[in-house]
Amino acid sequence: MQEIASLLEGEEDTITRMSSACAILKRRLPWVSWAGFYRVVGPRTLAVGPYQGDVGCLRIGFDRGVCGTAARSGKSQVVPDVHAFKGHIACDPDARSEIAVPVRDPQQALVAVLDLDSHQPGAFDDIDRAYLEDLSKEIFPGVRS
Ligand code: SME
Repeated sequence: MQEIASLLEGEEDTITRMSSACAILKRRLPWVSWAGFYRVVGPRTLAVGPYQGDVGCLRIGFDRGVCGTAARSGKSQVVPDVHAFKGHIACDPDARSEIAVPVRDPQQALVAVLDLDSHQPGAFDDIDRAYLEDLSKEIFPGVRS
């Protein structure tokens, strides 16, 4: 988190901030197979990017999957076993666990979901959730003010 904060200091472009944050997450967390964002691009629709990892599903409706559930509910989703999550979208057949955290703009509107996958079961817990929720507040400069 310190590395991300120091890299992003002074950078105002949100896509640049997202790209750099997921690049560091993917590099620093070796158990993470995919790290990236699904941005809100239309009514109840998410589109992939920026991200690091294999090709992700391009679009996800708010009614589908872990990311859609995070977007719909506005609540982080910690999924220790993706096979036990009804409606999980298997972009990567080797994915076993996942975490998805809503990202809001300074007006508190939902703008994206930050999503991490792992090939290991139970790779994410409430500590990851807390840190990633903190990170989600760093994506839009000024969101804390
Ligand atoms: N598994 C996700 C889809 C996105 S990929 O994991 C990159 C989901 O169920 O929303």
